[in-house]
Amino acid sequence: MNIQKLLQKKIKQSFLKNKIPKHFNPIIQCVTNKPNIHYQINGIIQIANILKKNPSELAKNIINMSELNQLCSKITVTYPGFINLTLNVQWIQKKLEKSYTCFRLNISYTNPKTVVIDYSSPNVAKEMHVGHLRSTIIGDATARILEFLGNKVIRANHIGDWGIQFGMLITYLQNKKKINILENMPLKKLEIYYKKAKLKFDKEKNFLQKTKKNVVLLQSGDLHVTKIWKKLVNITIKENQLIYDQLGVSLKKKHILGESFYSKLLPSIINDLLKQKIAVIKKGSVIVFLKELKNKLGDDMGVIIQKSDGAFLYISTDIACLKYRFNDLKADRIIYYVDSRQQQHFQQIEIICRKSGYIANNFKIEHHIFGMMLSNDNKPFKTRSGKNIKLTKLIHESIERAKEIIKQKNPGLLGEKLNKIAHVIGIGSLKYADLSKNRKMNYVFNWDNMLRFEGNTALYIQYAYTRILSIFKKNKISQFNLKNNIILLENQEIKLGIQLLQFEEILYSAAKKGVPHIICSYLYRLSVSFSHFYEKYPIFLENKIHIKYSRLKLSALIAKTIKIGLSLLGIKTVDYM
Ligand code: ARG
Repeated sequence: MNIQKLLQKKIKQSFLKNKIPKHFNPIIQCVTNKPNIHYQINGIIQIANILKKNPSELAKNIINMSELNQLCSKITVTYPGFINLTLNVQWIQKKLEKSYTCFRLNISYTNPKTVVIDYSSPNVAKEMHVGHLRSTIIGDATARILEFLGNKVIRANHIGDWGIQFGMLITYLQNKKKINILENMPLKKLEIYYKKAKLKFDKEKNFLQKTKKNVVLLQSGDLHVTKIWKKLVNITIKENQLIYDQLGVSLKKKHILGESFYSKLLPSIINDLLKQKIAVIKKGSVIVFLKELKNKLGDDMGVIIQKSDGAFLYISTDIACLKYRFNDLKADRIIYYVDSRQQQHFQQIEIICRKSGYIANNFKIEHHIFGMMLSNDNKPFKTRSGKNIKLTKLIHESIERAKEIIKQKNPGLLGEKLNKIAHVIGIGSLKYADLSKNRKMNYVFNWDNMLRFEGNTALYIQYAYTRILSIFKKNKISQFNLKNNIILLENQEIKLGIQLLQFEEILYSAAKKGVPHIICSYLYRLSVSFSHFYEKYPIFLENKIHIKYSRLKLSALIAKTIKIGLSLLGIKTVDYM
């Protein structure tokens, strides 16, 4: 149920009946600080001024012509022209009953779109590190949210599995006679070899030449070299999958559509761009000059798409990839979760693909940028010696720290039970700390803050959830089959009901802009409201059975909303802690 949208529609109809020109739209705002007012309609004063009308007269006329009887029990105008709405309690109750019985809270489905989400996308032969965390978990949350609303989501893990680095690594492994022991080699080792290979490549001519030969062999599909390459890719995929599984990220092997997938398409794309005169050859390189972007000298920006030695670049692959997603996957939306340093790269591919007709003229790709993770000293979050922190280490520490905190809270919890809960809390806190921040901003990663029982943390919400469950458990009542009706009596309870119904509008806003943090703040506020309500009206001290059971049902609905909300963020709940 999207209250905001419903009000928007009804008021807009009344706008039109009042001959307010089409381009004016009502501004609907939720009111939290007044007990009896739930929504306010703003913007009428400005419209009245422009149309040279009296604002409060206009506001009254808008009310008279609007069909809000069912929805609202009271509508007032405050000077000079604000409209205040009090929702009809019966209407709220009816909607809550529907949410209670529906497995997905009666959230309406969207007009379905095909959405490609490019996220995580690490490079092969390297361990994943904190630099991959934001893309991986924000992208995954967005995928879940869009899917929940009924879209066809295509998860695309655009791994870096192609390019000269493989030539280097393969050459190094051949020189050191390591090919035969590749089978069980840990990724950590591969990364070390890769670094050594790069050093050699930069210094030794022989090594460079052999590398180039290997690249040519790889590109031409040579069986032997391809087999080695496949092994390198598989080692990486296998270890990354462990991380995804530990993190509760929904990426699987089938979502991998890496750079190598597009390699065969590149020659024809370059030819086509040359034929269309979008690209030119200059000193042997193929370049696209973009008048839309300027270089440092103020000239049209030149983008190399094939080097003079014939090698393709990161951007060449992304051009092919965008074309494929638009034409073959028939994407209506393409979202990239890639850090902000690649902003220009995505501008370039978008412009090139539009010029060449690879995407429609009015099609816009969405580059959802994100800020950096910082340490307490506001510097990038790295090890003391300035290295990237591996994700395996970060995950391990989160779980260990969670374990300590749970042990303090509940010393009786031991063994497997403790481990399970520590995993859910540790991973949940790690993800939530990130997801709860506006993705465009840098944020300070702080263990103590993220594992607190107070404030906007996963723990606070997960704990509120277990509190609700324990109410049911203590009294041996199931939260699922409550047959009584919800009756909202107190203002606080009515507000709580409205808050529950607002989940849908929150989901839709989060889906539109790819901003899961607004779901986090919603769940946090909902948990706080529950806690205040429960303190003021202890359910089991209530003598009237129908009120007691109504409140139980409302609490069950809150628990259900928290569980679904967290699951859309990729965070689990526990039944106790
Ligand atoms: N592998 C790249 C990197 O580590 C990220 C790829 C992002 N996706 C894309 N289509 N370019 O920076």
